[in-house]
Amino acid sequence: MKKPIILINFKAYENSFGKKGVDIAKRIEKISIEYSTEVILSVPATMIPILSQEVSLPIYAQHVDSYPLGAHTGSLLPEMIKEAGAKGTLLNHSEKRIRADEIHDALLRLNKLGLESVVCVDRYELVEPMAILRPTAILIEPPELIGSGISVSKAKPEVITNAVKEISKVPGVFLIAGAGISNGEDVYTAVKLGADGIGVASAVMKAKEPEKVVEDFIKSGIKAMDERN
Ligand code: G3P
Repeated sequence: MKKPIILINFKAYENSFGKKGVDIAKRIEKISIEYSTEVILSVPATMIPILSQEVSLPIYAQHVDSYPLGAHTGSLLPEMIKEAGAKGTLLNHSEKRIRADEIHDALLRLNKLGLESVVCVDRYELVEPMAILRPTAILIEPPELIGSGISVSKAKPEVITNAVKEISKVPGVFLIAGAGISNGEDVYTAVKLGADGIGVASAVMKAKEPEKVVEDFIKSGIKAMDERN
Protein backbone atom coordinates (compact mmCIF):
# COMPACT_ATOMS: atom_id res chain seq x y z
CA MET A 1 0.00 0.00 0.00
CA LYS A 2 1.38 3.40 -1.01
CA LYS A 3 1.63 5.94 1.83
CA PRO A 4 1.32 9.72 1.44
CA ILE A 5 4.46 11.81 1.90
CA ILE A 6 4.01 14.26 4.77
CA LEU A 7 6.75 16.88 4.96
CA ILE A 8 6.71 19.26 7.90
CA ASN A 9 8.83 22.36 7.49
CA PHE A 10 9.77 23.63 10.94
CA LYS A 11 10.89 26.97 9.42
CA ALA A 12 12.12 29.36 12.18
CA TYR A 13 9.24 29.57 14.61
CA GLU A 14 9.89 30.01 18.31
CA ASN A 15 9.19 26.30 18.86
CA SER A 16 11.33 25.14 15.91
CA PHE A 17 14.53 24.83 17.92
CA GLY A 18 15.88 23.91 21.34
CA LYS A 19 13.82 21.84 23.76
CA LYS A 20 10.55 22.87 22.14
CA GLY A 21 11.83 21.68 18.77
CA VAL A 22 12.73 18.28 20.22
CA ASP A 23 9.36 18.03 21.96
CA ILE A 24 7.32 18.70 18.82
CA ALA A 25 9.48 16.27 16.81
CA LYS A 26 8.89 13.51 19.39
CA ARG A 27 5.14 14.07 19.39
CA ILE A 28 5.08 13.80 15.60
CA GLU A 29 7.29 10.70 15.71
CA LYS A 30 4.79 8.97 18.01
CA ILE A 31 1.91 9.49 15.59
CA SER A 32 4.07 8.54 12.62
CA ILE A 33 4.91 5.20 14.26
CA GLU A 34 1.26 4.61 15.22
CA TYR A 35 0.17 4.90 11.58
CA SER A 36 3.35 3.41 10.07
CA THR A 37 3.65 6.50 7.92
CA GLU A 38 6.96 8.26 7.62
CA VAL A 39 6.88 12.00 8.30
CA ILE A 40 9.78 14.12 7.07
CA LEU A 41 10.95 16.92 9.36
CA SER A 42 12.76 19.80 7.69
CA VAL A 43 14.48 21.58 10.55
CA PRO A 44 16.86 24.47 11.29
CA ALA A 45 20.48 23.43 10.63
CA THR A 46 21.37 23.65 14.33
CA MET A 47 18.73 21.01 15.11
CA ILE A 48 19.92 18.37 12.63
CA PRO A 49 22.37 16.56 14.95
CA ILE A 50 20.09 16.32 18.00
CA LEU A 51 16.95 15.38 16.06
CA SER A 52 18.81 12.78 13.99
CA GLN A 53 19.76 11.14 17.26
CA GLU A 54 16.57 11.65 19.27
CA VAL A 55 13.90 10.71 16.69
CA SER A 56 13.65 7.97 14.10
CA LEU A 57 12.06 10.21 11.44
CA PRO A 58 13.93 11.40 8.34
CA ILE A 59 15.49 14.77 9.16
CA TYR A 60 16.03 17.28 6.37
CA ALA A 61 17.84 20.60 6.24
CA GLN A 62 15.83 23.57 4.95
CA HIS A 63 18.52 24.71 2.52
CA VAL A 64 22.05 23.95 1.38
CA ASP A 65 24.58 26.04 -0.52
CA SER A 66 26.22 24.62 -3.61
CA TYR A 67 29.74 25.96 -3.05
CA PRO A 68 32.60 23.47 -3.00
CA LEU A 69 34.33 22.77 0.31
CA GLY A 70 36.74 25.56 1.13
CA ALA A 71 36.77 29.29 1.89
CA HIS A 72 33.01 30.02 1.96
CA THR A 73 32.18 31.74 5.26
CA GLY A 74 28.69 31.13 6.56
CA SER A 75 27.90 28.33 4.11
CA LEU A 76 25.90 25.18 4.81
CA LEU A 77 27.15 22.47 2.48
CA PRO A 78 25.69 19.06 1.54
CA GLU A 79 28.67 17.31 3.16
CA MET A 80 27.97 19.13 6.45
CA ILE A 81 24.31 18.15 6.68
CA LYS A 82 25.16 14.53 5.84
CA GLU A 83 27.75 14.41 8.58
CA ALA A 84 25.25 16.00 10.99
CA GLY A 85 22.78 13.16 10.32
CA ALA A 86 20.38 14.65 7.75
CA LYS A 87 18.75 12.36 5.21
CA GLY A 88 18.09 15.18 2.76
CA THR A 89 17.20 18.82 2.27
CA LEU A 90 14.74 21.29 0.86
CA LEU A 91 16.10 23.47 -1.91
CA ASN A 92 14.82 26.75 -3.34
CA HIS A 93 11.99 27.30 -0.85
CA SER A 94 10.03 30.50 -1.57
CA GLU A 95 11.57 31.95 1.59
CA LYS A 96 15.09 30.90 0.51
CA ARG A 97 15.30 31.18 -3.27
CA ILE A 98 18.48 30.20 -5.12
CA ARG A 99 19.45 30.40 -8.80
CA ALA A 100 18.76 27.55 -11.23
CA ASP A 101 22.48 26.82 -11.67
CA GLU A 102 22.85 26.62 -7.87
CA ILE A 103 19.93 24.18 -7.68
CA HIS A 104 21.61 22.03 -10.35
CA ASP A 105 25.03 22.11 -8.66
CA ALA A 106 23.50 21.31 -5.26
CA LEU A 107 21.52 18.38 -6.70
CA LEU A 108 24.62 16.87 -8.32
CA ARG A 109 26.37 16.98 -4.93
CA LEU A 110 23.36 15.70 -2.97
CA ASN A 111 22.81 12.80 -5.37
CA LYS A 112 26.50 11.88 -5.24
CA LEU A 113 26.34 11.86 -1.43
CA GLY A 114 23.18 9.72 -1.42
CA LEU A 115 21.09 12.50 0.13
CA GLU A 116 17.42 13.12 -0.72
CA SER A 117 16.23 16.45 -2.07
CA VAL A 118 12.95 18.32 -2.39
CA VAL A 119 13.07 21.22 -4.84
CA CYS A 120 10.39 23.86 -4.28
CA VAL A 121 8.76 25.65 -7.19
CA ASP A 122 6.12 28.38 -7.23
CA ARG A 123 4.41 27.44 -10.53
CA TYR A 124 3.58 24.26 -12.41
CA GLU A 125 5.57 25.36 -15.48
CA LEU A 126 8.75 24.75 -13.45
CA VAL A 127 7.84 21.22 -12.38
CA GLU A 128 9.22 19.38 -15.42
CA PRO A 129 12.37 21.54 -15.88
CA MET A 130 13.30 21.03 -12.21
CA ALA A 131 12.33 17.35 -12.16
CA ILE A 132 14.74 16.72 -15.05
CA LEU A 133 17.56 17.66 -12.64
CA ARG A 134 16.64 14.50 -10.65
CA PRO A 135 15.63 15.62 -7.16
CA THR A 136 13.76 13.11 -5.00
CA ALA A 137 10.62 15.27 -5.19
CA ILE A 138 9.23 18.58 -6.31
CA LEU A 139 7.21 20.63 -3.81
CA ILE A 140 4.81 23.02 -5.51
CA GLU A 141 3.64 25.98 -3.41
CA PRO A 142 1.91 29.13 -4.67
CA PRO A 143 3.79 31.72 -2.52
CA GLU A 144 0.73 33.90 -1.91
CA LEU A 145 -0.96 31.02 -0.06
CA ILE A 146 1.99 30.13 2.19
CA GLY A 147 1.06 30.74 5.82
CA SER A 148 -2.37 32.03 4.77
CA GLY A 149 -4.50 29.21 6.17
CA ILE A 150 -6.13 29.01 2.71
CA SER A 151 -4.93 25.83 1.08
CA VAL A 152 -3.68 25.26 -2.42
CA SER A 153 -6.13 22.32 -2.53
CA LYS A 154 -9.12 24.63 -2.06
CA ALA A 155 -7.97 27.91 -3.62
CA LYS A 156 -5.92 26.63 -6.56
CA PRO A 157 -6.58 22.94 -7.24
CA GLU A 158 -5.65 23.50 -10.88
CA VAL A 159 -2.06 24.16 -9.74
CA ILE A 160 -1.93 20.61 -8.36
CA THR A 161 -3.68 19.07 -11.37
CA ASN A 162 -1.30 20.79 -13.79
CA ALA A 163 1.74 19.90 -11.66
CA VAL A 164 0.65 16.24 -11.60
CA LYS A 165 0.49 16.27 -15.42
CA GLU A 166 3.98 17.78 -15.60
CA ILE A 167 5.60 15.39 -13.12
CA SER A 168 4.25 12.39 -15.07
CA LYS A 169 6.70 13.34 -17.84
CA VAL A 170 9.63 12.55 -15.48
CA PRO A 171 9.10 9.10 -13.95
CA GLY A 172 10.68 8.47 -10.56
CA VAL A 173 10.31 11.99 -9.15
CA PHE A 174 7.56 12.55 -6.56
CA LEU A 175 5.20 15.52 -6.50
CA ILE A 176 4.25 17.15 -3.20
CA ALA A 177 1.82 20.06 -2.86
CA GLY A 178 1.82 22.72 -0.17
CA ALA A 179 0.84 26.22 0.96
CA GLY A 180 -1.94 26.91 3.42
CA ILE A 181 -2.63 23.22 4.12
CA SER A 182 -4.74 23.40 7.29
CA ASN A 183 -6.74 20.21 7.79
CA GLY A 184 -7.32 16.64 6.70
CA GLU A 185 -9.69 17.69 3.97
CA ASP A 186 -6.90 19.75 2.33
CA VAL A 187 -4.59 16.73 2.43
CA TYR A 188 -7.31 14.41 1.10
CA THR A 189 -8.02 16.75 -1.84
CA ALA A 190 -4.33 17.20 -2.72
CA VAL A 191 -3.72 13.44 -2.77
CA LYS A 192 -6.97 12.73 -4.64
CA LEU A 193 -5.85 15.23 -7.29
CA GLY A 194 -2.73 13.10 -7.78
CA ALA A 195 -0.10 14.57 -5.44
CA ASP A 196 2.15 12.03 -3.67
CA GLY A 197 1.82 14.01 -0.47
CA ILE A 198 1.85 17.43 1.14
CA GLY A 199 4.20 20.00 2.62
CA VAL A 200 3.09 22.02 5.62
CA ALA A 201 4.39 24.41 8.26
CA SER A 202 2.11 26.82 10.14
CA ALA A 203 -0.84 24.49 10.72
CA VAL A 204 1.48 22.16 12.65
CA MET A 205 4.00 24.57 14.15
CA LYS A 206 1.33 26.94 15.47
CA ALA A 207 -1.00 24.22 16.77
CA LYS A 208 -1.65 23.61 20.47
CA GLU A 209 -1.63 19.89 19.80
CA PRO A 210 0.53 19.42 16.71
CA GLU A 211 0.32 15.63 16.91
CA LYS A 212 -3.48 15.80 16.48
CA VAL A 213 -3.08 17.90 13.34
CA VAL A 214 -0.51 15.47 11.96
CA GLU A 215 -2.76 12.51 12.80
CA ASP A 216 -5.61 14.11 10.83
CA PHE A 217 -3.23 14.70 7.88
CA ILE A 218 -1.93 11.13 7.91
CA LYS A 219 -5.40 9.56 8.16
CA SER A 220 -6.78 11.72 5.34
CA GLY A 221 -3.75 11.12 3.15
CA ILE A 222 -3.97 7.35 3.63
CA LYS A 223 -7.71 7.40 2.84
CA ALA A 224 -7.11 9.34 -0.40
CA MET A 225 -4.24 7.01 -1.42
CA ASP A 226 -6.42 3.94 -0.76
CA GLU A 227 -9.21 5.36 -2.90
CA ARG A 228 -6.75 6.16 -5.70
CA ASN A 229 -5.27 2.64 -5.80
O1 G3P B 1 7.36 24.35 3.16
C1 G3P B 1 6.00 24.34 3.44
C2 G3P B 1 5.50 25.70 3.71
O2 G3P B 1 6.03 26.71 2.91
C3 G3P B 1 4.02 25.81 3.78
O3 G3P B 1 3.76 26.74 4.76
O4 G3P B 1 2.52 27.65 6.62
O5 G3P B 1 1.46 27.50 4.37
O6 G3P B 1 1.87 25.42 5.68
P1 G3P B 1 2.32 26.83 5.40
